Amino acid sequence: MKIIVTKNDVHLLDADLLAIPVSSAELKKRGEEALPLIGIDRQVLADFKADAGEIIVLYGGSGNYSASRIALLGIGEGDKLDDWRKAASALASKAVDLKSEKVSVDCTRIKALVAITGQSVTTLAEAFVEGYFAGSYRFERLKSGKLDKKGTDEKLKKIDKLYIAVPAGVLTEVEEGVADGEIIGSCKQMVRDLVNLPGNYLNATDIANAAEESGKQYGYDVTVFNKKEIELMGMGGLLAVNKGSNQPPTFTVLDYKPQGEAKAVIVLVGKGVTFDSGGISIKPSENMGEMKSDMAGAASVLGAVEAVARLGLPLHVVGLIPATDNMPSSTAQQPGDVITTYSGITVEVSNTDAEGRLILADALTYAKEKYNPDVIIDLATLTGACIVALGYSVAALFSNNDTLADKIFTAGQHSGEKVWRMPLWDLYDEQIKSDVADLNNTGGRGAGSVTAAKFLEKFIEGHTTWAHIDIAGPSFVPGKGAGKVNGGTGFGVGLLVELLKKWA
Ligand code: BES
Ligand code: MN
Ligand code: ZN
Repeated sequence: MKIIVTKNDVHLLDADLLAIPVSSAELKKRGEEALPLIGIDRQVLADFKADAGEIIVLYGGSGNYSASRIALLGIGEGDKLDDWRKAASALASKAVDLKSEKVSVDCTRIKALVAITGQSVTTLAEAFVEGYFAGSYRFERLKSGKLDKKGTDEKLKKIDKLYIAVPAGVLTEVEEGVADGEIIGSCKQMVRDLVNLPGNYLNATDIANAAEESGKQYGYDVTVFNKKEIELMGMGGLLAVNKGSNQPPTFTVLDYKPQGEAKAVIVLVGKGVTFDSGGISIKPSENMGEMKSDMAGAASVLGAVEAVARLGLPLHVVGLIPATDNMPSSTAQQPGDVITTYSGITVEVSNTDAEGRLILADALTYAKEKYNPDVIIDLATLTGACIVALGYSVAALFSNNDTLADKIFTAGQHSGEKVWRMPLWDLYDEQIKSDVADLNNTGGRGAGSVTAAKFLEKFIEGHTTWAHIDIAGPSFVPGKGAGKVNGGTGFGVGLLVELLKKWA
């Protein structure tokens, strides 16, 4: 997709689809005078409420616009970034459905619109472009005659154009926002592809390869530890989960350093379970296929590091990705096994389906030991309980540091990738005690997401600025149906980038 910010007269833009953002407040106040300007039927006023993401497409040469279709694009009250994202996403989706290759947006009133949002022009442009990328996404590369698995088909190369018409005075600010929005938007698309690819197209080695490719392209270092090296290091958690598999695990380190001095060292850890069958504690077969998405944390960490590199943020950002599938077989770990993690802490594996915490444990210890960073944040599709508590739009946040927790919460509100904090009180330790080992990997029925987080906390080696984000709900939205866009969402990239931008 190519996005062109232009100060050319919007009436003359030759487009398949020209969108005019309209707020509900505007409609109420001056609908009569606002809408005749495009020469439309009064009936439209009665039918169109300008709810965020509502679109009415008008045909038949409206007013003095050259575009072949005009779309009224609802932005709700117009005061929320989320509504702008929603509107942009709806527009992009409509453009895909109508096969419009040249879309334009009339942002000539952007100054007035910005006044309502209380945001800068740049932020508004960024949110709009991010939303546009989200709405234009389709996962079709595995359909015959569409795209091949690498996405190199001609169809993908065909470039759709989006023109954003703005007043001359704000051109540079809008361009800045567009540039950042393109980076976040395209990184999220990459993450969605990785999450949507099933186990037979994406294993631990494929994740490592994807990281290497990204590192090469955007100029950061990537090191991949293979099974032998993981054994030598003694990452007993990752190896235990991998035991049932005939495919080797990988441990990938992404290392981005800025040109100048780094203002902080941040380590991001992502759960990379490429398929979670549950292992010997096997999951029910219904919907088990959704567990191809159990590497969403890893994908988002890759997406975030890539975005940070492309933005050139003045931070040293390291991504750690332990990856494997979780399979049952005669070589698989068995419930009741006691394993020794990289930290030396022993764990009784009461349930082989609580595998995420085992591979994260090793990576968290590695993060502290190797980098002693200012901040450690892990992202993981860790518990079904998290979906029960917060649903498919919100992630659970756990942190041992109130300042960090507040920053992440705020970044969530701003980026639209929302988090809600849950407790890490020591009273929950009781649930993960073991009679035979230092810890038990399962905490029983109650507070499943909390006990998982408490488990992880044991492996941060006294680090005082750590956060765990359980993205089981918002990283993958299940659902079936032709034409419906569901599956991987890219959740985490926007949140982390917003957090790190503010940090820098
Ligand atoms: N990957 C799952 C968690 C999950 C479930 C993510 C549904 C997304 C949707 C994780 O490995 C898991 O199986 N967790 C168990 C933990 C339990 C055995 C203590 C769970 O949540 O049931
Ligand atoms: Mn599991
Ligand atoms: Zn899992």
